[in-house]
Amino acid sequence: MSKKLIAGNWKMNGSLAANEALVQAMLAGIGQPSAEVALCAPAPYLAQLQALLQGSPIAWGSQDVSSHEQGAYTGEISVAMLKDFGCRYAIVGHSERRQYHGETDEVVATKAQRALSAGITPIVCVGETLAEREANETESVVKRQLAAVIHAVGHCITEIVVAYEPVWAIGTGKTATPEMAQAVHAVLRAQLAAATTNPKRVHILYGGSMNAANAASLLAQPDIDGGLIGGASLKAADFLQIVAAAG
Ligand code: 13P
Repeated sequence: MSKKLIAGNWKMNGSLAANEALVQAMLAGIGQPSAEVALCAPAPYLAQLQALLQGSPIAWGSQDVSSHEQGAYTGEISVAMLKDFGCRYAIVGHSERRQYHGETDEVVATKAQRALSAGITPIVCVGETLAEREANETESVVKRQLAAVIHAVGHCITEIVVAYEPVWAIGTGKTATPEMAQAVHAVLRAQLAAATTNPKRVHILYGGSMNAANAASLLAQPDIDGGLIGGASLKAADFLQIVAAAG
């Protein structure tokens, strides 16, 4: 496996002033990280990230992208627009978008395909709700979500990043244990292995209350190739400790 990937998802947080302070603190402390690092910001701040991060070890990306190429889709943001602002990544199918914006597996898969077509790496989120876990549906849910993407992108599947984010662990302080996360990551890896001869090329990130204290044990698991970090990506010291744990 290549380097681990630590990506921050700021969600709907930040301001010009707060972002500047946060990013400057990260840049001051990051040195030459052994991991790949990225920050995914609200769309209005992508130009700011481009200005601050150009030439640094930190890449940047969006938290969503339109499934359409261009045209009469009010409020949507196209892959070409993300390219204009230097985005390397686009999160797609985050559970908050599936839940609050009704994104289906098919829509998420089309978004992933659209991102790839522009040379942007989609970070495709999958994960079960608490009710699904309690009903023993974890495996079938994540496999269904990933299958839609495999079906849509075919052999390009090696170009995506997968993020396993159990919905019950997001923003709750409840982290999956390293063993619980690893078990699901192994399922996803096996599914990728059926679709490509190079399943190890795909980063499978864990997300859900990952923080400075629990990152090392999660990242030590054989199929956990990095993290998608919400709350802890809003604090420079915490985020940098997670990056260091991925070294
Ligand atoms: P938290 O790290 O705040 O739990 O959020 C995880 C997440 O949803 C990242 O996309």
